[in-house]
Amino acid sequence: MTLHPSDALERKKILEEKFMCGIVGYIGEKKAAPILLDGLTKLEYRGYDSAGIAVDCGENIFIEKTVGRLDALKDKLKNRLPEGTVGIGHTRWATHGRPSDSNAHPHTDCHGNFVVVHNGIIENYLPIKEDLIAKGHKFSSETDTEVIAHLLEEIYRGDFVEAVREVLNKIEGSYSLAFMAKAHPDILICAKQDNPLIIGLGRGENFIASDIPAIINHTRQTYILNDGEIAVVKKNSVQILNRQGKSVDKKIFHVTWNAEAAEKGGYEHFMLKEINEQPKAVRDTMSKRIAKDGGAIILDELNWDKNFLDGIDKIYIVACGTAYHAGLVGKFYIEKLARKLVEVDLASEYRYRDPIVDEKTLVIVVSQSGETSDTLAALKESKRLGAKTLAITNVVGSSIAREAHQVIHTWAGPEIAVASTKAYTTQLILMFMLALYMAQICETLSDERIRELICRLKKIPAQISETLSDVEPIKTFARQYGFNEDVFYIGRALDYDVALEGALKLKEISYIHAEAYASGELKHGTLALIVEGVPVIALATQKSVYEKTLSNIKEVKARDAIVIGIAAAGDTELEKYLDHVIFVPETDELLIPLLTVVPLQLLAYYAAITRGCDVDKPRNLAKSVTVE
Ligand code: AGP
Repeated sequence: MTLHPSDALERKKILEEKFMCGIVGYIGEKKAAPILLDGLTKLEYRGYDSAGIAVDCGENIFIEKTVGRLDALKDKLKNRLPEGTVGIGHTRWATHGRPSDSNAHPHTDCHGNFVVVHNGIIENYLPIKEDLIAKGHKFSSETDTEVIAHLLEEIYRGDFVEAVREVLNKIEGSYSLAFMAKAHPDILICAKQDNPLIIGLGRGENFIASDIPAIINHTRQTYILNDGEIAVVKKNSVQILNRQGKSVDKKIFHVTWNAEAAEKGGYEHFMLKEINEQPKAVRDTMSKRIAKDGGAIILDELNWDKNFLDGIDKIYIVACGTAYHAGLVGKFYIEKLARKLVEVDLASEYRYRDPIVDEKTLVIVVSQSGETSDTLAALKESKRLGAKTLAITNVVGSSIAREAHQVIHTWAGPEIAVASTKAYTTQLILMFMLALYMAQICETLSDERIRELICRLKKIPAQISETLSDVEPIKTFARQYGFNEDVFYIGRALDYDVALEGALKLKEISYIHAEAYASGELKHGTLALIVEGVPVIALATQKSVYEKTLSNIKEVKARDAIVIGIAAAGDTELEKYLDHVIFVPETDELLIPLLTVVPLQLLAYYAAITRGCDVDKPRNLAKSVTVE
């Protein structure tokens, strides 16, 4: 098979990017297989769609791997667990490339002498693969990972560590890797670049893992590998080398978390962990989709052209809950940047309203889980009516991803908490990029405006981190107002769309009655509810409607409401009228929802804590509503 880097679709199909996979390894006196499977189970909160293990059994290296949940692997291994005491294992959370047995890890060279598991991306795998094919190597998967095993086979001349070092000097990308070699049954080698990897230190045994939960039941003494480091792991010793092969002194990191906390990365709840994962989730979702010169958005998955978009006379965005709120922001983006008419609909309404849809309609469905029944039904109804369909979802291989004509994925990693946070911000980012991509094709924006917006876009992950860095005022507000039974959120334009999401967050995890209102609507009824002491969260970041919003805020202040403002840094006006103001970093007002939603997520989280609610599993709710 000849692979051409220029063939973007081929590259997308083949490139198996793995932001959230899990790696485990064991070397010692005990049977490795049960330890590997237990370790993979502890990583399942990271989500996965295929898994596998390799165990050295003397004569050969035993490998079993399968698509599906970890139970599918355990079923395949029933009554045939290998005896060996050295092994590695892997779980894959697909972001590119459908899950399959052949794409599951571990991967080997032509003769099964070298075995590798991998989390990350090998950027330059295509030319290396082509060169190896020319040298006669036979590949059995479409993954970038398998290239590493064949490259090791090509380079190896007897020194396993040296050969791995040479392989690492030839590959480019982000990765955590674990290697085995049939000729070296007493060694595991692992390497880290960008993706996490730790070594668990035992007595007469040692462990490798992507994350602490996989080893915490065996040892709390660990080495946390840094980028560029290689670990040579034997059952009685661990040597850490740098890329030049020189020994590195490592301090032991003693894990104090309990097992359950370890799954949350040390955070008290998955929701707080996922709120704090947003900078990485947004960065991952942007990665590979911005041209290297920063002048364009690349959506290989779509491959749209002007002809396609000229054939579209209406766009619907259809979703539920938080995804619906993201759709409202998406409407704003597409209409503003690509000048295309967009209607946003709740899936549960759209599917029963006999919508006006035909072959000139594009229906975009948004769904974190890719399994929400109303959204899936709306998608099927749209296809039946002849629409072109695009899914924006976080789960590769999900029902919605498979049903839509085209799909683009958020790369937020598994979202465990019922309350959606990082999925929302990655949906916004993806819709912003989609709107820019459409603007490029329709030529509705100048090149310099596109470049300026992309420059702003690239700063968002760091600005989310900045917004997350000062939670104390928000904790205080949550304690002060967490026992109110009614809270109002107001804003105009994009601020209103974010206010809706903020109100939903507060409702669903703290059980406080919260309502979001377009602030221009207050005088048409809701103002009757604004009395002394009622907390109002007022978003005021949209310059185009700032004066109007300010006058609405004065209206509620005049009725002695307690008003907490959310404003852009540099706004000196709002503080004159408000009890409290939370500032978010300055950015283009189109991108500011990525930042203003963060304090609202945290406010909901700390209010729920104040009220002793079950933050990750709120009453009556499910993470994915797969029933009508
Ligand atoms: C949001 O916090 C809720 N968990 C809920 O509204 C959710 O957004 C909705 O059920 C849609 O789920 P989906 O994105 O998986 O389709």
